[in-house]
Amino acid sequence: MRLLLGHLLLPLLLLISSTTCLDNGLARTPPMGWMSWTAFYCETDCAKHPDGCINEDLYKAMADQIVIDGYNLVGYKSVHIDDCWSEMERDVNGVLVANKTRFPSGMKKLAKYMHRLGLKFGIYEDYGTKTCAGYPGSYKHEKVDAETFAAWDVDYLKLDGCNIDEDLMPIGYPLMGKELNATGRPIMYSCSWPAYLINHPEKVDYNVIGKHCNTWRNFDDINSSWKSIVSIISYYDKNQDKHIPTHGPGKWHDPDMLVIGNKGITDAMAISQFTIWCIWSAPLIMSNDLRIISENSKVILQNQEAILINQDPLGVMGRLVKNTTDIATYVKQITPSRGNKKSFAFALLNRNEAKSYRKVEISLSAIGLTDPAGYYVHDVWAHADLGLVRPGDSIIVDLEPTASVFFRADVAGIPGHAQRRRIYPLNNSRVVYEFEKVQLSTLKKLEFADFLRTNRVPF
Ligand code: GLA
Repeated sequence: MRLLLGHLLLPLLLLISSTTCLDNGLARTPPMGWMSWTAFYCETDCAKHPDGCINEDLYKAMADQIVIDGYNLVGYKSVHIDDCWSEMERDVNGVLVANKTRFPSGMKKLAKYMHRLGLKFGIYEDYGTKTCAGYPGSYKHEKVDAETFAAWDVDYLKLDGCNIDEDLMPIGYPLMGKELNATGRPIMYSCSWPAYLINHPEKVDYNVIGKHCNTWRNFDDINSSWKSIVSIISYYDKNQDKHIPTHGPGKWHDPDMLVIGNKGITDAMAISQFTIWCIWSAPLIMSNDLRIISENSKVILQNQEAILINQDPLGVMGRLVKNTTDIATYVKQITPSRGNKKSFAFALLNRNEAKSYRKVEISLSAIGLTDPAGYYVHDVWAHADLGLVRPGDSIIVDLEPTASVFFRADVAGIPGHAQRRRIYPLNNSRVVYEFEKVQLSTLKKLEFADFLRTNRVPF
């Protein structure tokens, strides 16, 4: 009897584990890449906007730029198509078809183009009957769509949630995750599920969502304005007790794209968005025009010290620990940490668009950094060491409107780790950690440009 039960139970357990959990081993650190939506929206008039419409040339151009400018070398590894890529109807077999005029070579070839450059390829769909922009949705086509994406060698799916009853989401999102798993192709899975339940927080269980999705949007769409950035930050601040414990390797809250490099975003705003997204260990998915972006924006997006904190293997989402009318202070645990000895990153943000603050004082102990041995504090934007700072010591900073400061504080007394603070600036913007052995040089950039010239995929 016991034997029989064992026989019956095993397949049942296998069935349950394969149907209840995504468990694809992906996204161990927050995904980094480029996505079209906030820079190019649903522009489909390629006659009028030949360089800025949703077509294969746009994605190829961005992939090229990622490699030419070395974004890939600091971690940006994927190019994501958003809405408006398909024909308005499925084919006779119910299969999605890429728009024939704008994607004449088809998605499989576009995926190949990305893969030849060492990049991943992301696509967009919607769980509803139609996407938000009115293209065919995946509802009742989950299996065929998952198989289609796998056949096209897609690496990442953003599944939106327009045009569907929200009560179906707890069924539909896991179902698509299961179908993606069943294809056997590792496909990172981003769900917009909680973003459609902003007004029903009681229906949002991030423990459940985190079992089915690698990442998920949970708030309004970002746009290229300070107001929008601050509204997202406020939403995350308010909900941090729900967000922080449900965030980590394989499952990330996604506050939406980086708008750095777009009109309306100053350098101070750009630094602040990047700082807070890094403090959260949020996905770093840019949406901008990499062909015309300013040098400063590029330097901000490629700050390896900030990225190292974003990609820290602990994957802890930073916490707002101190808040005044305008100034928010965040703390995030990072490596190296051993037992009670913990290292941190911390940041101060001035949310006010008009008012400067001078000589703002922070003592480490006031923000929870109390190890008596002290911390090696390093300024992530100035690339400067402050030296050993004890818990009772204060750091004094100026904060211009919309500006932030960002520090890492490596706890003293973990053998072998003090040297991490020694860094060498390269080309003003890049840094090399002696300890990390990260090497970047102009020479390497040239090599990649050559690689690109000689490896273009013929269409
Ligand atoms: C929603 C999403 C956006 C984008 C559009 C596309 O609004 O939140 O990120 O994908 O749909 O229509």
